[in-house]
Amino acid sequence: MTLRLAVFASGTGSNFVAIAQAIDAGKVDAELALLFCDNPNAPVITRAAEMGIPSLAIAPADCANRVDYETRIREALDESQIQLVALAGYMRIVGAPLLESYEGRIINIHPSLLPAFPGRHAIEDAWVAGVSETGVSIHYVDEGIDTGPLIAQQRIPILPGETCEELENRIHRVEHRLYPDAIQTVIGGFNES
Ligand code: GRF
Repeated sequence: MTLRLAVFASGTGSNFVAIAQAIDAGKVDAELALLFCDNPNAPVITRAAEMGIPSLAIAPADCANRVDYETRIREALDESQIQLVALAGYMRIVGAPLLESYEGRIINIHPSLLPAFPGRHAIEDAWVAGVSETGVSIHYVDEGIDTGPLIAQQRIPILPGETCEELENRIHRVEHRLYPDAIQTVIGGFNES
């Protein structure tokens, strides 16, 4: 049976689109069954609609508390029979209701060579620090911030004289290839076990 995948995103959704396109191209053996977004006005929702992918938006401000918010998400995932969750620019910490229900089944993409530069501004932090290389990491999600076990990483040199924006564009291009590949690796592992 084809694995049922959900992508969680908060904003632009270029990784969401890359994953959807990789599935369409037969590079990832999954059905993108749900886009979840925490911001009803995010551009990624329009992208999902254009691609015919079901989406759900719940704003945390419309929920009683964080447990209520995540419980509603969990119910939606159960209803859509989701087997794997890929966070792609989802700007929230995942809490206990989701982590407990989807243990080992939530993964994330982060634009640095973890454990270096965790957090929200990873690309800018690496660029400002003047390090010679950064990268992209795909990892399982645990209760920490960008701390779970690694699935895949790619190193990216920071070129002399490169602007932060140029670096960001190169990082995104790597992300759009590495994330679908890593999702397929995870799915392959599920199929073997
Ligand atoms: C990506 O750089 C991802 O690594 C980070 O957030 C960004 C999301 O970009 N977690 P997009 O919304 O997929 O274009």
